[in-house]
Amino acid sequence: MRNHPGHSLETESDLPNPSLVSVEIRSAQLADVPALLRLINGYASQSLMLPRTELELCESLRDFLVATESGELVGCGALHFYTQHMAELRSLAVSPTKTRSGLGQMVARELLDAARRYGVDLVFVFTYVPGFFEKLGFQPVDRGALPLKTWKDCLRCPMFHACDEIALAYMVSPGAEIYMGALPPEEAPAEGTPVLPILGAPRILEKG
Ligand SMILES: CC(C)(COP(=O)(O)OP(=O)(O)OC[C@H]1O[C@@H](n2cnc3c(N)ncnc32)[C@H](O)[C@@H]1OP(=O)(O)O)[C@@H](O)C(=O)NCCC(=O)NCCS
Repeated sequence: MRNHPGHSLETESDLPNPSLVSVEIRSAQLADVPALLRLINGYASQSLMLPRTELELCESLRDFLVATESGELVGCGALHFYTQHMAELRSLAVSPTKTRSGLGQMVARELLDAARRYGVDLVFVFTYVPGFFEKLGFQPVDRGALPLKTWKDCLRCPMFHACDEIALAYMVSPGAEIYMGALPPEEAPAEGTPVLPILGAPRILEKG
């Protein structure tokens, strides 16, 4: 699909890192599933990401972009729609051998471009690396301000009883903040108390 960040290059510092010139970013294919599982679940085993099963990955494969180099998968990320205004950027991962070379940012920018093309107003993320997302223009938001359905993955998360992820949002369209906070009527729980994760103190994995 592309071999450079999906935004216009305006300054010298915007130029891609030379180690990324042979990286290609494209839509994921079913043949990528084994490598995707290895990458994502490798980080999940360190409690850095949510684990994914083969079934879950296949169900949501069309959300995924992959980064490859010489045919090898070196990064991935997904854009998952929740409402006609909101999407989540998730499952962003870069192979441990390629981190800190700009690849994570390159994949994230492609996903934000896709969000823009689809007409998404706001992209949110739950993460332990807020610093990485702030560099892309995301801003911290109250986790409770996101619609209930965005917590659906939490039900099977090992951290359900002590959720320490940080929520950030990227406003694709100006004023998109209005889509947070208020539940549309059809999302309001009919009765009973909604089951929400128990929020713990945030864990931040900043640059080491
Ligand atoms: C988080 C992750 C995707 C970042 O990808 P990456 O390719 O290493 O990051 P990049 O090289 O594109 O970094 C872009 C910028 O963010 C900064 N950055 C990267 N990781 C950071 C972190 N943990 N904290 C703060 N800043 C960070 C970089 O220093 C760089 O800033 P600079 O342009 O000023 O030098 C990658 O480290 C990863 O796969 N981590 C494990 C899985 C994970 O935590 N995924 C996030 C799920 S929400």
